[in-house]
Amino acid sequence: MSMIEMDQATGTVVLQAGRTSYVLRLDGTGSTVRQIHWGPALSVAEAATLVEPEDGRDSFDGGTDAREEMPVEGGLRYGVPALEVRHPDGTSSLEPLLTGRGIQHGPDGSRLVLHFVDAGPEGTRDLAWDLHYRVRRDSDVVERWAVVRNTAAGGGRPLTLLRHAGGQWTLPTRAGYRLSSVHGAWSEEFQLAGQPLAYGETTLTSRRGHTGHQSNPWVMLDAGDATEDHGEVWSVALAAGGSWRTTVLRTPAGHCGVVSGAGHEGVEAVLEPGEELTTAVTAGVWSGTGFGGASRAWHTYVRRHVLPAGGELRPVLYNSWEATTFDVTEAGQRELADRAAALGVELFVVDDGWFGRRDDDRAGLGDWHPHPGRFPDGLRPLADHVHGLGMAFGLWVEPEMVNPDSDLFRAHPDWVLHHPDRRPSPQRHQLVLDFSRPEVTEWAFGWLDRTVRDNGVDFLKWDFNRSFSEAARRTGGTAARAVHTEHAAGFHRVLDRLRAAHPRLRVESCAGGGGRVDLAVLARTDQVWTSDNTDAVDRLTIQHGASQLYPASVLGAWVTDSPNPLTGRRVPLRFRFHAAMAGVLGIGGDLTSWTAEELAEAAALVSVYKDVRPVVQHGEQYRLGPPGGHGHAVLHVHEAAGEAVLLQWRVGGRGRRAAEPLRLPGLVEDADYRVFEPGEPPEAARVVPGRVLAVHGLAAELPQGEYRSRLLRLRRL
Ligand code: DGJ
Repeated sequence: MSMIEMDQATGTVVLQAGRTSYVLRLDGTGSTVRQIHWGPALSVAEAATLVEPEDGRDSFDGGTDAREEMPVEGGLRYGVPALEVRHPDGTSSLEPLLTGRGIQHGPDGSRLVLHFVDAGPEGTRDLAWDLHYRVRRDSDVVERWAVVRNTAAGGGRPLTLLRHAGGQWTLPTRAGYRLSSVHGAWSEEFQLAGQPLAYGETTLTSRRGHTGHQSNPWVMLDAGDATEDHGEVWSVALAAGGSWRTTVLRTPAGHCGVVSGAGHEGVEAVLEPGEELTTAVTAGVWSGTGFGGASRAWHTYVRRHVLPAGGELRPVLYNSWEATTFDVTEAGQRELADRAAALGVELFVVDDGWFGRRDDDRAGLGDWHPHPGRFPDGLRPLADHVHGLGMAFGLWVEPEMVNPDSDLFRAHPDWVLHHPDRRPSPQRHQLVLDFSRPEVTEWAFGWLDRTVRDNGVDFLKWDFNRSFSEAARRTGGTAARAVHTEHAAGFHRVLDRLRAAHPRLRVESCAGGGGRVDLAVLARTDQVWTSDNTDAVDRLTIQHGASQLYPASVLGAWVTDSPNPLTGRRVPLRFRFHAAMAGVLGIGGDLTSWTAEELAEAAALVSVYKDVRPVVQHGEQYRLGPPGGHGHAVLHVHEAAGEAVLLQWRVGGRGRRAAEPLRLPGLVEDADYRVFEPGEPPEAARVVPGRVLAVHGLAAELPQGEYRSRLLRLRRL
C-alpha cells in the first residue's frame, strides 16, 4: 500500500506513518483542510466513510477553532492562528484557498504538499503558503512544516509575519483532556507533570533565545485515562532551537488543538516581495500503548531520522569539570586521563578553563587560544597523550558567549546582543554574541575549524551558559526581535558547517546542563549534557522526564564524587553507576581521590556497561514504575539481539512492605530467558519463561538498606 492515498470523491487523504494513520479531509470549497483521524491504521476506503463533527452551533461559535490544519486569522476564526500576518494596511485577515496538491515518494519517506493562496473577493493577494507532511514506513511520527511566501513582484510591499507555525495538530473530541509536559530549572530539568487541560489557551514557551531548562518544546495529551502502558496518547514536539511557543487550545465545544512554532509573542518576521520563510518542523505521534508507547516511537524516530549518526554507539566519556572546575592544567589533565584510560574510558573531555585567561568565570570567554600559563605548548601535547592512551580527545567550548574582560570584546564590543541606550545585563559575567550576524558566525566557524583541525579534536562539548537579554538586531525595525530565532539558525549553521568539514567530529549539546535539548539541536549533535545535577537520586527523576521524548543514547550521565558536590548526598558508587548506565555513561569525579577499591569497582562497572551498551542505547525502553518508588526500574529490550537489561533502584530502606514483582513487557512470551547478574557464574543463572516474566513478573526485592540498585541481564535462549 502506498503511504499517501486519496479518495477523490470525499477529498480524503490518508497518510500512513508506521503503524498509524493520519487522515485529512479537504473540504469542497477549498477553504479548509482538517484532520479527521489520527490513530490506528485505516485503509483509504475506511477513512472515506469517516463523518466529521458538526461546525458551530450558534452565531457566537465559529466552530472551526482547534479543528483546522492551518488556522489563520480571518473569517469566523477565534482559535489560535498558526499563520498570522500584518498586511501593509494593518489588517490581518487571510482567506485560504487550496489551489493544488502534490505527492512525492522519496528515499526519506513520502511527502504531501498542499498549496494555498490568500484569495480576496477581487482575486489572489500577495501571500501563498504550502503545508508539508512527511511520513515514513519505519516511524509512527508525522512531520509537518509550512513554507510561507510573499508573492508580490519587485516593488511590492513587505509582509509582516506575527506568527508562523507549521500548522495545528488537532485531537479527536474527548470528554476530558490531560496535558503532560516537563518543567524545571537549572540542575532540575525535565520534571514531568500531568494535569487536566484547562479550557482556553495553555502556553509553554521560552523567551530566552534557547530551548530552556524551564520547559521543553513538546506536549503529550490524553483523555485522562492513559497510563504508562495503556491508552491513547497524542504527542507533538517542535524542532526549533531559539525562543519558541507552544499553545494548547481546549474549546468549550470539546475540541483540542496544538500550535507550536519558533519565536514567542512579539517576535515578528518580515517577508520582502519574493521572499519565503520555512517554518520550524513540528512532529507528532499517536500511541495506542500509553506514554511508554509514545516515548518508544519518539526514541525510534530520533535515532533513525533525527540524529546525524544515530546508528553509532556513544563512547564512555570522562569529563574534567567536577574534578578541577577552572583549575585546568596540562599535568592535572594528564593525570586524570591516565586514570580514566585505566577504567576503560573511551573519550576524554577537557572542560572549561583551557583557553584565554580563563582562571575563573570572569574572563577569557571569546579568546579561543590555549591558556598561556596552563598550556604553554598548546593543546597538542595533551591531545597526543590522550590519543596515545587509546582515547578520543574532547574539548569544551562556548562559542556564543563573551566575557567583557576578553580581547574579543575589546575588539568587537558591538558583536553582543545589546540595546545601545540600555544597560547591559551580564549573567555569569558574560554577554551573548549575536549569531544572527554573518561576521560573528564566520569568526566562530574559523576558530572552531582551526582548533579541531590543529589539535585532532574528536568531540566538542558546546555549552551556552546564560539566556538572552537586550535581544534585538542592531538594524532595528519590525524584525529586530527575530534574533530570538535567527541566532539559533546561525548556531545551527555553524554546527552544520563544522560537521561537514570534520565528518568524524561528534558534538554534545549543553546549556548549563539540559538548557538546550530539542529535536533541532539533535539533528546536528550526538548527545546532550542532561543536567549539571549529577546526584544519582535526582538524576533518576531528571532522566525519567527526559526519556519521555529523548532516547537513552543521547542522555549523557556522569558518575561523580560522593558526597555529591551540588547536593551533598552520599550514594554508593554502584548506585551512582547504575543510574548513569541508564543513559550514555560518563565519569565526572575527581579520580585522583578515588580509592583503589573504588577504581577497581568502577573499571568493572564500565566493562559491564560496554557489554550492555547496545541494548541500553539502541534497545526499546520500558519504564517500570516512577522514580522514588520501590518498583523504580527501566527495562531496555533489544529484540533483534535477544537481549534485555533491567536496571532497578530503590532510594529508601525496604521497610515492611514486600516489593511487587516487576512485570517485564517487550519480551518474547514463548521464549525462555536466562536471567543473570553480570559476573555471576552461569550455574547461578535462572531460566524463566518469557510469559512468566510478562504476566507474573520477576521477584523484585532489593536487599535491605538505602540506595540499593542492581543490573540484571536477560538473554533469550
Ligand atoms: C556548564 C556545564 O553544564 C558544565 O558541565 C560545565 O561545562 C560548565 N558549564 C563550565 O563552565
